[in-house]
Amino acid sequence: MTTMEHDEIREALAALRARDLPTHGGRTLAYVYDSGLATADAIGREALAAFSSTNGLDPTAFPSLLRMENDLVGIAGGLVDAPKGFAGVVTSGGTESIFLAVLAARDARPDVVEPRMVLPTTAHAAFHKAAHWLGVEAVLVDVDPVSKRADADAVAAAIDERTVLVVASAPSYAHGVIDPVEPIAAAAAAAGVRCHVDACIGGWVLPHLQASESDKAAWNFAVPGVTSLSLDLHKYAYTPKGVSVLLHASAELRRTHLFASARWPGYTMLNTTAQSTKSGGPLAAAWAVVHHIGPERYADLARQARQATLDLAAAVAGIPGLSVAAPPDSTLLSLVTDDTCDVFTVSDEMLARGWYVQPQMRFRDLPATLHLTFSAATAASSAQIVADLIAATASARAAGPVAVPSDLVAMASAIDPATLDEATFAGLLAAAGLAGGDGAVELPERMAPVNALLDAVPPPLREALLLGVIDRLVRPSD
Ligand SMILES: Cc1ncc(COP(=O)(O)O)c(C=O)c1O
Repeated sequence: MTTMEHDEIREALAALRARDLPTHGGRTLAYVYDSGLATADAIGREALAAFSSTNGLDPTAFPSLLRMENDLVGIAGGLVDAPKGFAGVVTSGGTESIFLAVLAARDARPDVVEPRMVLPTTAHAAFHKAAHWLGVEAVLVDVDPVSKRADADAVAAAIDERTVLVVASAPSYAHGVIDPVEPIAAAAAAAGVRCHVDACIGGWVLPHLQASESDKAAWNFAVPGVTSLSLDLHKYAYTPKGVSVLLHASAELRRTHLFASARWPGYTMLNTTAQSTKSGGPLAAAWAVVHHIGPERYADLARQARQATLDLAAAVAGIPGLSVAAPPDSTLLSLVTDDTCDVFTVSDEMLARGWYVQPQMRFRDLPATLHLTFSAATAASSAQIVADLIAATASARAAGPVAVPSDLVAMASAIDPATLDEATFAGLLAAAGLAGGDGAVELPERMAPVNALLDAVPPPLREALLLGVIDRLVRPSD
């Protein structure tokens, strides 16, 4: 370890950041959300720094954090028509909110020995993670192949006596469409089962659009049967990372994810969320940004992001080889290619033009897609993104669909994911041209061939290969 002076640290951090995707400027259409409001960003950073060492572990020691949490939960509840008596918590992100919703649903039903939750196939992967960690079986239900919305009848049919939770998205991440929450929540309620609406994306943006888009079907607590709802502030509230809200229709519904332990000789452990020690920084930053931006500016930002989404969707109709996977209900857009090209090459071509658009792999009958999350900041470059998407798609068509060597697919497909060992994995990495020195993974500049290979193999093998890659990437440096 070296010791560095302040200036050197600053330079080193800047150099480290140089290869990251840009977080501002509206050109990164996944992972980040840019309001384009420099003052809001500065206020968020200031609050983040000022509260970074406070600890949410004990709300009596840091009452400021409790006040800000209750304030944010109240505002969030107001946005999504939470009923009188609702309760919530601030978490570190959508995944933690979802984890707690699943935990609360599971533990409210100690009578169910092998609990299940019913998920439309487009439900976020965080539910699969929660299922895996919490021992709740995920029962997958195919979505409508055209609208990409959950099939409410199929969801209802999948509910049985072991079901502890039913899930709907508003909107789904992969396709940006809102599930039919009313019939899904009604079916859940009729069976006495909880219904969670994943509004991690839509929770802060849809309410601000609703006045102008009143045709949208209801998706929040106004729908009878909705028992919990997640909404992320680090997405469309444009706050620094690390803040989501989980709301329950009543304090009683929340009760089963609160945790206290007095079974040790140390301090009383009393947690509402997965973390115990938790920095007050993200919470304070969110409180500051939310109060600075305020409802009117949020409405403006939502309209800008929505308009950019609609403009690109309209432009795609005129781009040969490309079409929208489903008309967007919110500020996310999902695109498919025809057989003249592939989404993975279009993604690489867009990156070469300074845009990050996210490749998504096929699953069951759902084809591979390109995902675009629109921030308000992208609106200023609407014409440029259209021009670049036209050029990127033309290049992808000129190159033709990326060819995955059939012997490589055969080699990969012969692998049993359950028994994938180091040697087999190393051989596959070498055959795919991904092996660097010392068995490390070396990712190429153009990811299309790798993505196409992953797309070609079944999801369990895809998972095993991805785990092998992350295992090699996350290793101590020399
Ligand atoms: C609909 C939806 N749910 C849940 C999540 C998970 O949120 P996080 O990445 O904050 O854990 C995401 C993230 O994109 C999402 O889009």
